[in-house]
Amino acid sequence: EEGLHATQYPWEHQKWTKTFDHAGLRRGFQVYQEVCAACHSLKRIPYRSLVGNIMTVDEAKALAEENEFDTEPNDEGEIEKRPGKLSDYLPAPYKNDEAARAANNGALPPDLSLIVKARHGGCNYIFSLLTGYPEEPPAGAQVQSGLNFNPYFPGTGIAMARVLYDGLVEYEDKTPATSSQMAKDVVEFLNWAAEPEMDERKKMGMKVLIISAALFAISGWVKRYKWAAVK
Ligand code: HEM
Repeated sequence: EEGLHATQYPWEHQKWTKTFDHAGLRRGFQVYQEVCAACHSLKRIPYRSLVGNIMTVDEAKALAEENEFDTEPNDEGEIEKRPGKLSDYLPAPYKNDEAARAANNGALPPDLSLIVKARHGGCNYIFSLLTGYPEEPPAGAQVQSGLNFNPYFPGTGIAMARVLYDGLVEYEDKTPATSSQMAKDVVEFLNWAAEPEMDERKKMGMKVLIISAALFAISGWVKRYKWAAVK
């Protein structure tokens, strides 16, 4: 069964002349860390990739050091704990899928690294999903116990409950943390996570366009110059 079709939103970062808003990415990462990371991993993202996009190198190092990672086995085969480094990947909330399901009524919270690309509707779908939980399921809707009604989720019964409520996080830049603001920020952040090369691609495209236009103009001038003597 199809879910309700997501509304099309005019995402700034998707326009071909625009890049990601880094203040927005920073807020979105904060939402991921403080809300989503309790259940969802982001396992393709190393701390180093946050540097320059979302935080400074010192902030990323300090964040990595907040977590412990396993060392390589030593000569006796023992594995120890060491503080995280920039080259480590963001830690997952659960040891494995079994533990994740056990904590979520049997449902598996998917890894969010590529979710924007993986789900039909991308940013529009995830924004609609996060902000689309009604107070009450509509009259006559069948909702299995342990599931939550969300019209955007295919099948409409989703194991994830509503997570975003106004004022849930406190943004350091003082942006009011409404549910929709947090949803917008975390979706833009997740789009960055899935396509970190998007800005470079657009900048390269712009250079190609400018240089091609210049070469075309020069070739037009050369042609007129060369043919000027011919009537
Ligand atoms: C599923 C996003 C927070 C538990 C999902 C899906 C997305 C998502 C995109 C996939 C829906 C689909 O399959 O189409 C987020 C975001 C969060 C967040 C952006 C933070 C703002 C949480 C939290 C929990 C959670 C805090 C646990 C308390 C789950 C579970 C599923 C899920 C169990 C699987 C649902 C199912 O298959 O029925 N989430 N989530 N999520 N999420 Fe979250």
